Amino acid sequence: MAIQKVGVVGCGLMGSGIAQVCAAAGFATVVREVSPELVDKGIKGIEKNLARLVEKGTITEEKRSETRGRLKGTTVIEDLKDCNLIVEAIIEQLPAKRELFGTLDRICGPETIFASNTSSLTITEIAASTKRPQRFVGLHFFNPVPVMKLVEVVRTIATDATVYEDVVAFGMKLGKTAVRAHDSTGFIVNRLLVPYLLDAIRALEEGVGSIEDIDNSMKLGCGHPMGPLTLLDFVGLDTTYYISQIMFEEFKERRFAAPPLLKRMVLAGWNGRKS
Ligand SMILES: NC(=O)c1ccc[n+]([C@@H]2O[C@H](COP(=O)([O-])OP(=O)(O)OC[C@H]3O[C@@H](n4cnc5c(N)ncnc54)[C@H](O)[C@@H]3O)[C@@H](O)[C@H]2O)c1
Repeated sequence: MAIQKVGVVGCGLMGSGIAQVCAAAGFATVVREVSPELVDKGIKGIEKNLARLVEKGTITEEKRSETRGRLKGTTVIEDLKDCNLIVEAIIEQLPAKRELFGTLDRICGPETIFASNTSSLTITEIAASTKRPQRFVGLHFFNPVPVMKLVEVVRTIATDATVYEDVVAFGMKLGKTAVRAHDSTGFIVNRLLVPYLLDAIRALEEGVGSIEDIDNSMKLGCGHPMGPLTLLDFVGLDTTYYISQIMFEEFKERRFAAPPLLKRMVLAGWNGRKS
């Protein structure tokens, strides 16, 4: 099936980026938020981004206008019913995602493919809220979506092979490198990244090095663009703590367990840049 029209649910940090790249890649894109104010805020954010790209000479005025022309904001969920693919990027809570997909399952045609941008929830469990688990995948983008080149395309044990390849091809059409991953908590990136970040906190706790020396070691010794403790500040300590709890629950391995210092910083409200 050719994917021509894309629905995006949620126009926050991730949803707005996903809607922007879909429209820029030539797909008719409808993005749904819960209130007219949030639709407006999300679309204005995208317009600002596109204007900045024109200023920098990255895209032409014509490309900006075409991209904007393919993008429509709505609060009405029925406006997504004729989409070929719907990408969900709402809050990271299973009941909310299950309720949304239950509704979409009722209003969309049987051919529509569903995708979730979840970082830590199990795709299989979200898909089970629909009658189309064979047409359900994970499509995990990275922040900021227009800049980051990767998308993880996640298949469950129920995902149809043709549907999966259609979504991999879709990811490539967005200009991303699409990597294939199974529905294992954390997929590929967080499976490797989260224990690394937690180990950096443990190294600090155990006095192996100072904050500055730990960060400089990975920057200058391994060529990373930033050290792990700086990266934690960007990702958010609360988000890291939340994901580590889900991963520990799944795998029961110490490498996924939150170090006491992380828990205490989160309890104190020291979440990194955002706070
Ligand atoms: N922030 C990241 O770096 C990142 C990276 C990869 C994946 N994710 C995942 O993406 C998803 C969204 O994260 P975010 O950071 O964009 O959150 P966000 O809070 O910025 O945006 C979520 C938006 O969804 C809207 N929303 C909630 N319920 C809705 C509904 N039923 N219909 C339409 N809109 C609804 C909210 O109003 C909000 O604007 C989460 O599942 C998260 O795990 C986040």
